[in-house]
Amino acid sequence: MRKKIVAGNWKMNMDLAEGLKFASSLNKYFSEKPSPKAMVILCTPFIHLAGVSEIVKHGKVALGAQNCASEASGAYTGEISAWMIRSTGAEYVIIGHSERRSYYNEDDRILNRKTIMAINSGLKVIFCCGESLSERESKNHFMIVRRQLEEGLFSLSEEQMDMVVIAYEPVWAIGTGLTATPEQAQEMHKYIRGLVKEKYGNECAKKLPVLYGGSCKPSNASEIFAGPDVDGGLIGGASLKKEDFTAIIEAL
Ligand code: PGA
Repeated sequence: MRKKIVAGNWKMNMDLAEGLKFASSLNKYFSEKPSPKAMVILCTPFIHLAGVSEIVKHGKVALGAQNCASEASGAYTGEISAWMIRSTGAEYVIIGHSERRSYYNEDDRILNRKTIMAINSGLKVIFCCGESLSERESKNHFMIVRRQLEEGLFSLSEEQMDMVVIAYEPVWAIGTGLTATPEQAQEMHKYIRGLVKEKYGNECAKKLPVLYGGSCKPSNASEIFAGPDVDGGLIGGASLKKEDFTAIIEAL
């Protein structure tokens, strides 16, 4: 059985006190409940990592960052290395989010470097891919996702792929209120798993979690998660509200 995962992507929200308070309340919620069937990961801004790590240390919630540097260490003012993230106790990092690709010009080559850096530092990678609206309308969505995975990810060894979770996030669905239909999500997830199978074989493809992201909310989560190749979600806006986030986890 593949791992089921719900990861919350806080993006650039909440100051330190707000973030720690929110993490404490989620941690408390999960410690009082029977273990969720899905693994829950909070991907916080860098400044929250060390504090949230202390809070969730003995709990059921895992911790991740939203980005890391493409270099290991040295004179890179303002950057945060994968190893620094790992040293906080965080276990995951999101790489290749469409907001990083478009606002910070992160291309496939840089994302491949970041992925390797993260894995070599002991972090598991939530690798994002997904097409824009015009790419879907021109029926290039499969080709785009294929390129993103081939260039960003497929230089990894089969062993390194054990450290990877893929998140399919159609750009047109992120923060827009538009969601892929369950059929569109399942179709792309199946395609992604097929690509992994082609490259790494059936065993690897079968155990790789593929998450959906893009305006996932309590009202649409169970429909989307029903797809046999949909193993959970990467949740933005709805991960900032405890009721919504926990309802999405329940849906899975
Ligand atoms: P959203 O964001 O749920 O707010 O659409 C998802 C994401 O960007 O990971």
